[in-house]
Amino acid sequence: MEIDLIFDRLWREYAALNPSARKIKALFSADGEEILNDHVAFRTINDSRINIDVLAGIFLKNNYEKKGEYHFKQKKLYACHFEHRTEPSAPKVFISELLLDKCSGFLRETMTGWADQIPPEVLGSDEIIFAGNSWYIPSFRMYERLREESEYAAWLYVYGFRANHFTIGIDSFKTCNTIGKVNSFLKEHGFVLHEIGGEIKGAPADLLEQSSTLADNIDIPFLEGVHSIPACYYEFAKRYAGPDGRIYSGFLEKSADKIFESTNFRGKS
Ligand code: NI
Repeated sequence: MEIDLIFDRLWREYAALNPSARKIKALFSADGEEILNDHVAFRTINDSRINIDVLAGIFLKNNYEKKGEYHFKQKKLYACHFEHRTEPSAPKVFISELLLDKCSGFLRETMTGWADQIPPEVLGSDEIIFAGNSWYIPSFRMYERLREESEYAAWLYVYGFRANHFTIGIDSFKTCNTIGKVNSFLKEHGFVLHEIGGEIKGAPADLLEQSSTLADNIDIPFLEGVHSIPACYYEFAKRYAGPDGRIYSGFLEKSADKIFESTNFRGKS
């Protein structure tokens, strides 16, 4: 599978689920900006059937390699990022996993039970990154219990395997050529930004600045009926060259730690 096809398919499913992402991309395009895909992110658990290495399979087969590792102690997450070996403009891939051995017995058993139910044809397939949650209907009560301990686990339990976010790399933007300008543009158009940790995460000295929208609330059919909960968010990144003259291609733990919270549940509905 060509990498463009992989990202096109991920985008189609992500855009179908998240109307704001579609609108934001269209707004920047209408403004004459070139939309470059900086990275796409996935979530999973450190169960050997579905861990980072499993989700990375399709990318490794398409000439990607593991580059950076990240630790999020408080959220009990570990993550890696992957880059294409020869195409620097190819989107980076960021995959995180929840470390079940560091979680409560309840969370560990629930998420292992969730993994037990994944159909074998999904488990054994490179296409697992497109699998979503098509084989079950989640319970809202379980979503609420999970998020008492881990918003990350609650999101994964409901949405399964899909792009958690796409990220526009704004380095080639002509008008909105700073993250601050991107943020103002989005707010002028009525979008809500993720403010925890500041609207702009990182600084030029870190070689990476990021911001993100708050995930859209969408109606999910749960076993107990329809509830509106956050889906996916859209992220924006500006990268800078380091002392070696190369554009920084990694990620910042401190920024990513906060950006994970873009999918936190925000209220009853
Ligand atoms: Ni990201």
